[in-house]
Amino acid sequence: MITLGEYIVEKQHDFPEASGELTLLLGAIRLATKIVNREINKAGLADIIGSTGVENVQGEVQQKMDLYANDKFKAALEARGEVCGIASEEEDEFISFDSERGCNSKYVILMDPLDGSSNIDVNVSVGTIFSIYKRISPIGTPVTLDDFLQPGNKQVAAGYVVYGSSTMLVYTTGNGVHGFTCDPSLGVFYLSHENMTIPETGRTYSINEGNYLKFPMGVKKYLKYCQEIDEPTQRPYTSRYIGSLVSDFHRNLLTGGIYIYPSTASAPDGKLRLLYECNPMAFLMEQAGGKAIDGYKRILDIVPTELHERAPFFCGSNEMIDKAHAMMIEYAE
Ligand code: AHG
Ligand code: MN
Ligand code: MN
Repeated sequence: MITLGEYIVEKQHDFPEASGELTLLLGAIRLATKIVNREINKAGLADIIGSTGVENVQGEVQQKMDLYANDKFKAALEARGEVCGIASEEEDEFISFDSERGCNSKYVILMDPLDGSSNIDVNVSVGTIFSIYKRISPIGTPVTLDDFLQPGNKQVAAGYVVYGSSTMLVYTTGNGVHGFTCDPSLGVFYLSHENMTIPETGRTYSINEGNYLKFPMGVKKYLKYCQEIDEPTQRPYTSRYIGSLVSDFHRNLLTGGIYIYPSTASAPDGKLRLLYECNPMAFLMEQAGGKAIDGYKRILDIVPTELHERAPFFCGSNEMIDKAHAMMIEYAE
């Protein structure tokens, strides 16, 4: 049995230039994950269910657990001093860690501390998403906005935690996707899914179909294609939507499938945030052998201009993404 700690040390030689800093950073994430996991597991007992009544910068009401997870990740990352700054869904602006150690570190991290937080009140899986870049500003100086506004193809690591029927941490550093399952009695993550790959095609589509009438024509046509009866291609496909990107992504990664959060008439850029939802998931998906596009182009090549910008997101098995892509082009309005 190999632990997450042992595994990241063993893989350290993949990043000679990182001289162990990335390893320590992943260690800080692992620690915060354990703390958040402990609280999520007893959410109903710990008065951390429900809303704070406060909205974040994106106009979404923050849940108590959103803020708890944000605080824990921030504190663990600042204490370890392995990043010079952090950007989070729950923070209006990026945070610069200006201690000597912070200024001298090479990495920035962007995160969605709690993904799918509306699901926590009803005891359904939630997650955490993180994305790591090497800074572009000089070491020894405070971090700048440009350090965070890098295209996803510059990520050095990305991952997620799914707090599901078991808690799993899944990450990539650009050498495949590896999954670790937490043994709750020991609080230790063990390697359970090495080199995860997504099947070339699948039979599951995941989308909030309640918004159907607002979808672009290409998405409407693709959904009808998924529902048609056609034995050779094993259609109709099955519909599965949890409403936690992390959980929907994780299922599709294991079994094959497509996840779509498209643009809608009322939200032309969709709902998901490019920097700490789409990009890390796109990096993981490509590392697992799948694809992630905004309907037309590769997610990882989008050059961001704002910390909290959104992007339409299509992500999953190659053949399914190719089909959806073709229909988006054919029925472009
Ligand atoms: P968050 O809880 O971080 O705001 O993210 C919720 C996201 C994502 O996890 C999920 O796939 C999507 O919102 C669900 O949105 P709808 O309720 O509009 O389907
Ligand atoms: Mn989210
Ligand atoms: Mn969130």
